[in-house]
Order: sequence, then structure tokens, then C-alpha cells
Amino acid sequence: MELMHRYQKLKDKVIIRRQEFIELMDYVETKTSYLTSPASTRFHLCIERGLLEHSVNVAENLLKIKAAIAPEISDESCVVVALLHDLGKAGMPNHPQYIKNEPTEKQKAYGYRANPPYRFNDELTYLSVPLRSLYLILRRFPLTEEEVQAIAYHDGQYVEDNRSVATHEEKLTLLLQYADSWSCFVDEKNSSN
Ligand SMILES: [Fe+2]
Repeated sequence: MELMHRYQKLKDKVIIRRQEFIELMDYVETKTSYLTSPASTRFHLCIERGLLEHSVNVAENLLKIKAAIAPEISDESCVVVALLHDLGKAGMPNHPQYIKNEPTEKQKAYGYRANPPYRFNDELTYLSVPLRSLYLILRRFPLTEEEVQAIAYHDGQYVEDNRSVATHEEKLTLLLQYADSWSCFVDEKNSSN
């Protein structure tokens, strides 16, 4: 199924906070680079729309896992945290986190992309990705505490800063961590070209 169609189907699952979600996503889609950003500079999905593709993959995987082992969690919460956990990677309006590198003349002549394809925008004030995600979301959308925890600690114990949440994870946090890892390391494994 085409990416934008998969994306729309997911967004349609947000019912209770629909109006706020429409307004948030309108801001995200028109004012930030969310719809065009890659998911990384040189690793998984370092291509245009990579961030959107990754977010959709995570949401679809999260919904499948939760249907099997935690059906009491709402589809709405799953979609909100999965689609927006990496929103910080889009950067700020007019200041994307990732900037496209230009290929050298030689790379152009042989039809190669620049290597690495993107670089980090150092004009952006440093914030970790989850922090920027929360900064962008919370001014416009009422997340629950569980949703905040899931987004804040979605990298799990891969990131040292996350030691404090160890053993205190809510179900949604654990599921988002797993869906994120599965999407990156399995579904998107060969996605860097
Ligand atoms: Fe992610």
C-alpha cells in the first residue's frame, strides 16, 4: 500500500482527541520537514521521506504487537506515540535537523549520491530527539503521562540517559521500544540506499 495511504489510515485511528490531533498534524506537516526528512544521516532510511516511512512502520508494528499481547491499550495512543516519537528529527520550522549533502562532480558524473547523504544541522539548538519531539507536541496536543514516558524513553537502554526509567516502564513504553527496534533493525535493515 502506498505510504501516504498507510499514513492516512493510521491518522484516522485518532478519535477522542481528533480536533487537537488534526491541528497538531497540520502544524507538523506544513511547518516542519516531517514529510520530507530522512530518518538518519547515513543509517536506516537516510532518504527523502525516510522519517515518515519509519514512523508509519513503527505504528503498524506497534498496533500488531499490542493487538496480540496488550489489547487494552488504545489504538489512538499507539498511533500518537509511534507517528510522533521521532518528530524531533524534523527539527524546527525552517531549521531541519538533517541537511542534504551535495554529491561531488565525480559522484554526479557516475550517478552516485553524496556520501553520507545528509549531515546534522549544527545551527539547531541541541536537544535530544525525544525532547524536541515532546517540545513540539506538548504545546499543541494533550499527551497522557504514559504517552510522554513512551516518547521520552523510546530508545530504551540503548541510551545511557535512560537508566532512570529502567524497571519503571509502562506497557506502552516497552511496546514502542520494541516496535521501534524491530522496524529499524529488521524491516529497514537494507534501507540506506
Ligand atoms: Fe524511531
